[in-house]
Amino acid sequence: MKLIVEKICCIGAGYVGGPTMAMIAEKCPQIEINVVDINEYRISKWNDIDLNNLPIYEPGLKEIISKCRNKNLFFSTDVKKHISNADMVFISVNTPTKEKGVGAGQASDLKWIESCSRQIGEFAKGETIVVEKSTLPVRTAETIGSILKSFSDRDKKAKKDQKKFFILSNPEFLAEGTAIFDLENPDRVLIGGNNERAIDSLKKIYLNWVSEEKILTTDLWSSELSKLIANAFLAQRVSSINSISALCESTQANINEVAKAIGMDLRIGKHFLKSGPGFGGSCFKKDILNLIYICNHYGLKEVASYWEKVIQINEWQQKRITKIIVDRMFGNVAGKKISILGFSFKANTNDTRESPAINICSDLIEEGSYLSIYDPKVELQQIQIDLGMKPLDDNSWPNKNGGWQFAYSIKESVENSDAIVILSDWDDFFKLDLKSLINIMRNPSWIFDTRNTIDTKQAKAVGFNIWSLGDGSLI
Ligand code: UDX
Ligand code: ADP
Repeated sequence: MKLIVEKICCIGAGYVGGPTMAMIAEKCPQIEINVVDINEYRISKWNDIDLNNLPIYEPGLKEIISKCRNKNLFFSTDVKKHISNADMVFISVNTPTKEKGVGAGQASDLKWIESCSRQIGEFAKGETIVVEKSTLPVRTAETIGSILKSFSDRDKKAKKDQKKFFILSNPEFLAEGTAIFDLENPDRVLIGGNNERAIDSLKKIYLNWVSEEKILTTDLWSSELSKLIANAFLAQRVSSINSISALCESTQANINEVAKAIGMDLRIGKHFLKSGPGFGGSCFKKDILNLIYICNHYGLKEVASYWEKVIQINEWQQKRITKIIVDRMFGNVAGKKISILGFSFKANTNDTRESPAINICSDLIEEGSYLSIYDPKVELQQIQIDLGMKPLDDNSWPNKNGGWQFAYSIKESVENSDAIVILSDWDDFFKLDLKSLINIMRNPSWIFDTRNTIDTKQAKAVGFNIWSLGDGSLI
């Protein structure tokens, strides 16, 4: 096995694979990196000359792509060729929650992991280090290992080129929207494995920009489990603070004041204490469901139901917000235009997976309101997929049965609306010109601010009725 890796292949050009490989390419110009994906459209977007068309949006990403692409970083659909040339193969494919069969709704669907393990088994040559990057249920490395072993055993029998595989777990802790910063300045890099030399090969790559004390090595299972638990703990903090946001609204306290006061206790810490419409993103819910599945599998029912509550509070928070909007607007939103600001699951990403906006918008449409949805980065087609319905055309807008349209600007979204609902924390929503917006709205004009982006005093002064999450002074 090569201690100094020369060629990397990364399977999966998504939110994890793309930025992670871009960072390695930038920091290690001596390594050739090929990112492969079966999705031709996605690869064509990674190769687009216009860097504004990259398939994912991350601050700082296009600068790195422009520097490294076609020098030591390549995007391709030729999975076979690049696996067979690689010393190290990263698995960065998707692992969504299973929709049917055993474990449906909780367990991860490992069909993509399995299919790419088979591809690695088939095409790899000689000694190959295989690195799990996707978040996976504990002991997935075992599954990958046994698939790979079946290929080396097959070739051994046929007296062909002897394949050998070394499996490592190297979970990614980057958050979307700050992926490049997180990759460049990780709190820690975790490498799990049982072969010292393979661990050292991967460690040597990170040492190009990460200091040694931040690189933690452990066994495979602890590494896999740590990733699930890190996400579960973060999600639990969000659900905890969101549960208290409701209590603040009932007791005239203010959630931001409470969060600040408790966060200054170093034992609690200030991060992940921002209340909002609920956590979204591809990982939190999926990982907790996975944790619940594992706990139930091992007969730990109480532990499973403890973590179930974190998800239930998250769903409750979204329902609670919709109910507040309807109640405040005199119990009826049918036929009313509502401006939705923000559709991504948080600021600085175009990702909408598990975005609270999906449930809140669907429920408001169900109530008969017509939504004008604006997001700085989410495209119309994505919203259509998420809401499962086409936008209304101009003739059927407004529509008593509810529906939505896409807005290309904040002004277009707000014009003639009865209410503004802020759902993601994009910078632009902290700087809204409330004075001019109220002039183009219908009366009475409402703001429902689920991200505390609006100065409530100023909003009241210009004439808005305002509800701001967790602010008990606004009764
Ligand atoms: C998360 C983990 O942070 C990351 O380590 C892991 O690799 C993947 O999952 P991500 O989903 O990109 O990252 O976003 P994150 O910033 O963690 O936010 C998750 C959700 O929680 C968002 O919907 C966000 O709005 C919400 N959130 C976060 C809050 O509501 N309040 C907070 O204080 C923090
Ligand atoms: P993540 O957020 O984990 O990066 P994404 O869904 O954004 O997840 O990306 C995963 C990518 O993996 C997708 O673009 C998908 O097409 C790709 N993929 C899944 N299975 C395979 C496979 N067997 N070979 C190549 N690419 C794959």
